[in-house]
Amino acid sequence: MNDKKNAEKIYLFDSTLRDGEQTPGARLNYEEKLEVARQLARLGVDIIEAGFPVSSPGEKRAVQDIARLVKGPVICGLARAIKGDIDTAWEAVREAEQPRLHVFLGASDIHMKHKLNKDPQTLLEQGVEAVKYASQYTSDIEYSPEDATRAREEYLYELLEAVIKAGATTINIPDTVGYTVPEEFGALIRRLKENVTGMDKVVLSVHCHNDLGLAVANSLEAVKNGARQIECNINGIGERAGNAALEEIAVALRIRQNHFPYYTDLNFSEIYRTSRLVSKLTSISVPVNKAVVGLNAFAHSSGIHQDGILKNKETYEIIDAELIGGKAAQMCLTARSGRHAVMDQLNKMHFSLTPEQLEIIYGHFVELADKKKEVYPEDLEALVLDHLSFTEPRYRLDYLQTISGSTSIPAAIVRLKREDDSTTEEVAVGAGPIDAAYNAINKITGLSIGLDKYRLNAVTHGRDALGEVQVEMSYQDRSITGRGTSTDIIEASVKAYLNGLNKLLRLNGYGENS
Ligand code: KIV
Ligand code: ZN
Repeated sequence: MNDKKNAEKIYLFDSTLRDGEQTPGARLNYEEKLEVARQLARLGVDIIEAGFPVSSPGEKRAVQDIARLVKGPVICGLARAIKGDIDTAWEAVREAEQPRLHVFLGASDIHMKHKLNKDPQTLLEQGVEAVKYASQYTSDIEYSPEDATRAREEYLYELLEAVIKAGATTINIPDTVGYTVPEEFGALIRRLKENVTGMDKVVLSVHCHNDLGLAVANSLEAVKNGARQIECNINGIGERAGNAALEEIAVALRIRQNHFPYYTDLNFSEIYRTSRLVSKLTSISVPVNKAVVGLNAFAHSSGIHQDGILKNKETYEIIDAELIGGKAAQMCLTARSGRHAVMDQLNKMHFSLTPEQLEIIYGHFVELADKKKEVYPEDLEALVLDHLSFTEPRYRLDYLQTISGSTSIPAAIVRLKREDDSTTEEVAVGAGPIDAAYNAINKITGLSIGLDKYRLNAVTHGRDALGEVQVEMSYQDRSITGRGTSTDIIEASVKAYLNGLNKLLRLNGYGENS
C-alpha cells in the first residue's frame, strides 16, 4: 500500500443516498437510508451525502437522523443556491459531528439560458450570495457549478474565484451529463488548479456521470491532474447511466498504486458487503460482469484460464477477492472445463477420488455439461453420489417404533445399525412422531442437523400408496436433500432423514461423534 507519509490522500465522497437514490426505481425508505449510511461509515468513506433535505419532509428527517446517529464521516446535505434550501439543509445536518453544506447552481450556457433563464452575472452573484449565506452556519461549504464540463471556461474561473472568496472550502466540478472524456477532463482540472486564484486553499473535487461509460476513467484522470476528492456511488448507481462507481475507483487506486501515488482511508473488506446491501435495498441488481463486485468478477470459465488459475492465481487475476471481503476465485464448470478444474472443485467439497473414479465422474460431467450451460457444485455432488458407491451408508434403520395419539406425548424408539453391524438405540419425544424419531436419530449421531424443508408426496395410488418424503437438511454450511419411500409415512420420513444424513456425513468426512 502507498505509504501514508509519502502519498496524498484521496477523499471519497459517497453520494449513494443522494445522486444514487435518483436512479429510477431506487427509492429507499427511512430505515433503509439509515442502514446504508451506517454501512457507508463502516466502509470508511470520508463524506456521506445523505440527501437533498428540501425535497421532502421524509428526506429531511432521514438526513437529520443520519447526521445525529452516524459517526465518523462528514455528513453532507445538498441545497440549491436558494436561502430556503440552505436553511433546510442546515437544519438537517447541523447535529452531525462534522456537517457540510453542498450548494449547486447551473454554470453552462445551456443551463443558465434554458433552465434558469437568467444571465451569467446574475447567477454568479446568486452563487456568491448562497455561499455567504451558508457560511453563517458552517465553514465546511462545497460549491458545484452544475454542468461544468459544458460551461465556458472563463466563466468558470470567474465564478470559482468568487465563491472561494465568499467561503467555499471544496470546489466540485460536475460532469453532470457524462459528456467529457479523460484527456479533456484531466486537462480542465489541471487548468482550474493552476489558474483559479484561491484553488490551492480548497479541496478540488470531481463528480462524474457515466453516460459514455467513462465516469471512473474521468475521475481517475482528474486525480492525476490535481483533484483530491472523488464523488462516487456504490455499484455506480445514479441519475441515468449512473455515477462513477466507488468500488471501482477505490480498487483501481489500490491495485495500480505504481500509477496512482495516493491512498484512501477505505476499509476495503467492507466493499462487497456494502455493494450487496445497496443492491438489495434499492432492488437494483449488480450486473454479473460488473468490475469488482459483479458475480463473475472472480469467476473463471475458460478451461485454459481455470488451469492457469489453479497453477498460480496471478495468471488471470489482478484483484484478490479477499481484499473486498468477497469470495475467492470460482470456477464455472462448463463443457470447456478440464479434469484439473473438476478435481479441484471435488477436493473443495471434500471428495478425494482415485484417478479411476475421477475418470468415471469426468465422463458423466462432460455429458451433463453438454446439456447444461453450467455445472454447479450441487450437480457435481449429485454425480458423485449417484455414480460412485465408494462406501456403505454409515447408518441404516434397524428398528423403529413410534407412539402418538390424541392424549399421549409423541415418542419414538429408533435403533440404527452402523457399517460394522454395531447398533445404537435411543428414545426421544417430539412435537409429533416424525419429530420424535428425528430427535432420537440426532441423539444417536450426536449431531444437530437442521431440517430446512419437509415434503410428502404419494407416488402411487390407493390406500396403500407409497409415500415419498423429501427433506432438505443442513449441517454446518452444507445443505443436502434426502429421499425415502415407504407405505408407512413415518418410516419414509426416517429413511429420507437417514439418506440425507449419510450424504452429509460422506461430504463432511464422517465428522460426527463416533
Ligand atoms: O450531476 C450533478 O451536477 C450533480 C450536482 C448536484 C453536483 O449531481
Ligand atoms: Zn450528479
